[in-house]
Amino acid sequence: MIHFAFFCFCLTAVVTALSALRIVDKRLDCKQLGLDDCKISNCSEQRMVALREHAPTGPDWDPEHEQVGMDRHGLLPVINVTWRIKADASIRTLNGSEINIVEESTNQSVCVQFSYRIGQLLNPNDRRWTFSLEDVVVEPGYTYMVSIFNLPKPEIGDYTIRKQITIPGCGDKRIQKVQMCLENGSLWDPNMSVVIDKKPEMLSINVGFEATTYSERYQVSIQNSDFFYSKNVSKENRTSLNVTFEFDEWELSQCKMFIRIQPFFIRCKNHCWSPEKTIHYCPHHSQWRLILKTTLGLLVIGGCFVFLLWTTFHKDPLNTSSSAAKEPPEVFQLQERKRILIIYSLDHPLYKNIVLKLCAFLATKCGTEVVLDLLDSTRLGVLGSIQWLEWHKEKIESSSDKILILCSRGVQAKWRAMCGDKQVFLREDARSPVGDMLTPSLSLMVPHFIRSTSFKKYIVAYFEDVCSEEDIPSPFHVTVRYKLMKQFEEVYFRILDTEKHEPGKVKKIEGLSEDKYHQCPSSRALHDAIQAFRTYQQEHPHWFEDELLESSELEVEEDLDEICESLKTSTDLQTYCIHEPSCQSLEETRNWFYST
Ligand SMILES: *[C@@H]1O[C@H](CO)[C@@H](O)[C@H](O)[C@H]1NC(C)=O
Ligand SMILES: *[C@@H]1O[C@H](CO)[C@@H](O)[C@H](O)[C@H]1NC(C)=O
Ligand SMILES: *[C@@H]1O[C@H](CO)[C@@H](O)[C@H](O)[C@H]1NC(C)=O
Ligand SMILES: *[C@@H]1O[C@H](CO)[C@@H](O)[C@H](O)[C@H]1NC(C)=O
Ligand SMILES: *[C@@H]1O[C@H](CO)[C@@H](O)[C@H](O)[C@H]1NC(C)=O
Ligand SMILES: *[C@@H]1O[C@H](CO)[C@@H](O)[C@H](O)[C@H]1NC(C)=O
Ligand SMILES: *[C@@H]1O[C@H](CO)[C@@H](O)[C@H](O)[C@H]1NC(C)=O
Ligand SMILES: *[C@@H]1O[C@H](CO)[C@@H](O)[C@H](O)[C@H]1NC(C)=O
Ligand SMILES: *[C@@H]1O[C@H](CO)[C@@H](O)[C@H](O)[C@H]1NC(C)=O
Repeated sequence: MIHFAFFCFCLTAVVTALSALRIVDKRLDCKQLGLDDCKISNCSEQRMVALREHAPTGPDWDPEHEQVGMDRHGLLPVINVTWRIKADASIRTLNGSEINIVEESTNQSVCVQFSYRIGQLLNPNDRRWTFSLEDVVVEPGYTYMVSIFNLPKPEIGDYTIRKQITIPGCGDKRIQKVQMCLENGSLWDPNMSVVIDKKPEMLSINVGFEATTYSERYQVSIQNSDFFYSKNVSKENRTSLNVTFEFDEWELSQCKMFIRIQPFFIRCKNHCWSPEKTIHYCPHHSQWRLILKTTLGLLVIGGCFVFLLWTTFHKDPLNTSSSAAKEPPEVFQLQERKRILIIYSLDHPLYKNIVLKLCAFLATKCGTEVVLDLLDSTRLGVLGSIQWLEWHKEKIESSSDKILILCSRGVQAKWRAMCGDKQVFLREDARSPVGDMLTPSLSLMVPHFIRSTSFKKYIVAYFEDVCSEEDIPSPFHVTVRYKLMKQFEEVYFRILDTEKHEPGKVKKIEGLSEDKYHQCPSSRALHDAIQAFRTYQQEHPHWFEDELLESSELEVEEDLDEICESLKTSTDLQTYCIHEPSCQSLEETRNWFYST
């Protein structure tokens, strides 16, 4: 390596010395036809100076001669300086010419004298005498000042002619082939070829190119904004070279790549012109990307699907706790708990017990978060019934939570009352700290229920054993009415937002069927509560009438004003009453409320 560098240095030094301004093959004579005595010499300090009248006039340029070219060996860039002698009487005093060439940036110069004497005005060819200084070695890209005057020089005045010659660069055809330009890579045509080969997992890019005499080493590189690979290759005896890059296709994030071949010519060294080629490797690449993306996508979707299945499986606490009344497993708490708001009427203490046991069952066995006015009386007291209901309704509407409407005698009676029928006041409502919540609930929910095209939010149900189909207010006749506990499984699927019937299969949840649900403690309590009320009803056929209070017995409730307000604003309500046999105008209902 040291030897190589030293060799380069020497070669460069030699080349630089050779290219210095000078005259190659300097002939000592400039004889021409009709001119026997002509000599070329270095300029001397003592110039021949003559009086003005004894000095010849100045020369002029010969426009016909090409100035810039190669020397006769085709190795060096040279200029010829050619001038003519004016055919006038002063020719007799002419003793010669002096030519001075100065490179402008360095002040490097050559100076020669032509010494001759001319007897005739014109040469034997009857043309003006013409002299030429040939093969002055110059440097491409440099500028020279050429000045010529005839001898002897006049004492006063100046007949010097001057001309600036700028030598073109190696790109110029006239000097392109000179050695120093070849050594600068002027004639190198790499004829680069790129072959992309797709091997399994690997991408192979072969770069082939023509080498040239004057550059032994080449650096071939491939790059884009993500990577840079390079390989050095030496020419040795070959005329064409090739370099192969192999890399993983995944490294390519972009289609566009640049391939560059940097030669190291003697003259330009590390700054030589380096051909580049842009290649686009997209078709295969993007296909692979597509495949990758698709695969990843499928993996993600598959993962989600598996996760969903897992979630669904684990969300079903009944599967894991079917043997006994275990608390819902820990994993359940991490899932999004479904919330359900229960709307019901406090028909009877025994019915209230059923509702409470249902809540316990939903909460413990089904892992549902139950919202019940009775269980939230503190907040209800602070907010008031309408605000409390509205707050929950909004929460439920903005989520996948549900509203369970438990129909009973009281619900139907209160609905009819809203539509103008006889008002109902239940003992249990009077006893309850929250009072009648059903009427404000219905006034809020029914318009919304009717308006919403899907009744997804609302689950209408009734306890088959203690209530009947007739207890369901007419607005709810448009949707499915579930019988409890027979259809509790369906209700539970509704709460979970899952379809019981899916193509090809019917889902079942262990322990929720009517005959099984009471086998664990929380559901047994529910079962017992239903049976207790059922027995009571059988023993007291007029149980509902017994529960009714006369309006005189009724203490005016705080919330009543609110209920009236809600009815006032809910003008739509009237339209929902038309199905009621005893439907009166809403005005009457309102008036009744106001008069109370
Ligand atoms: C002219 O000068 C050059 C260097 O300036 C020298 O090498 C050469 O010998 C000289 N020629 C004559 C004839 O004196
Ligand atoms: C310089 O003059 C010589 C002799 O006349 C000639 O052979 C050569 O081609 C000329 N070079 C240029 C660049 O004109
Ligand atoms: C012309 O040159 C010759 C020889 O170089 C010299 O002897 C002679 O004196 C010169 N004539 C003049 C007028 O300078
Ligand atoms: C070249 O010579 C001229 C005149 O003698 C001078 O003004 C100039 O500074 C010189 N340039 C260099 C680069 O030496
Ligand atoms: C040599 O090549 C370099 C790089 O292309 C270029 O910049 C320089 O001008 C060339 N030299 C000549 C004398 O043309
Ligand atoms: C350039 O390469 C092509 C094929 O790679 C070849 O056919 C052609 O002759 C080459 N041209 C030169 C000037 O080397
Ligand atoms: C190739 O040569 C260049 C210039 O000499 C050098 O900087 C680089 O490190 C070399 N690269 C390799 C891969 O040898
Ligand atoms: C190059 O060629 C020379 C003679 O042509 C031969 O002696 C030498 O072994 C060759 N070198 C290589 C690397 O092929
Ligand atoms: C690449 O060069 C090697 C020799 O270095 C040669 O055997 C091979 O055929 C070349 N490949 C191409 C594609 O030109």
